[in-house]
Amino acid sequence: MLATDDLRAEHQGILKMLAILRAIAAGLKPGAPLPRRQLGDILEFLRVFADKCHHGKEEDILSPALEQAGMPRQGGPIAVMLHEHELGRGHIRDMGAALEAGDPAAFAAAGLAYADLLTPHIAKENTVLFPMAERLLGAEALTAMQEDFERLEAERIGPGRHEAFHVLLDELSALYLS
Ligand SMILES: [Fe+2]
Ligand SMILES: [Fe+2]
Repeated sequence: MLATDDLRAEHQGILKMLAILRAIAAGLKPGAPLPRRQLGDILEFLRVFADKCHHGKEEDILSPALEQAGMPRQGGPIAVMLHEHELGRGHIRDMGAALEAGDPAAFAAAGLAYADLLTPHIAKENTVLFPMAERLLGAEALTAMQEDFERLEAERIGPGRHEAFHVLLDELSALYLS
């Protein structure tokens, strides 16, 4: 598998979680109790699956390879990507603080801001950054990169975790998207 196809597959999972997040945010009413367990699980998914694992692969493996192949780090798609990951971390922190404070409106606002940031971010990667990476690096390098991705995943999130997140996605989809 090409490393870019692995990232595209992870995007599918992240987009599904964003749809769940939007559905939950739309149903959060001021003063009503927060579905704490589900929101905690979603935050864990966003922190670990989306940020630590997926953004880790993009930041620590893909972008250095692109720089080495001549793509500038400043002022181009790499800089945009890094900046948007950083903005996303801010929204995740805000969601965490809102959950701690039991504040549905603040959680909904931060959750929607995150979904509104990540949706076009993912579209840009799929349609601009990854095709550029495929042209610049080629299939052989991207197939080898997939092995580095697997190592990063094993080191940072541990065995079996990826699968557990997919189970969570299925559970939450059945609850909120059907
Ligand atoms: Fe990204
Ligand atoms: Fe991505």
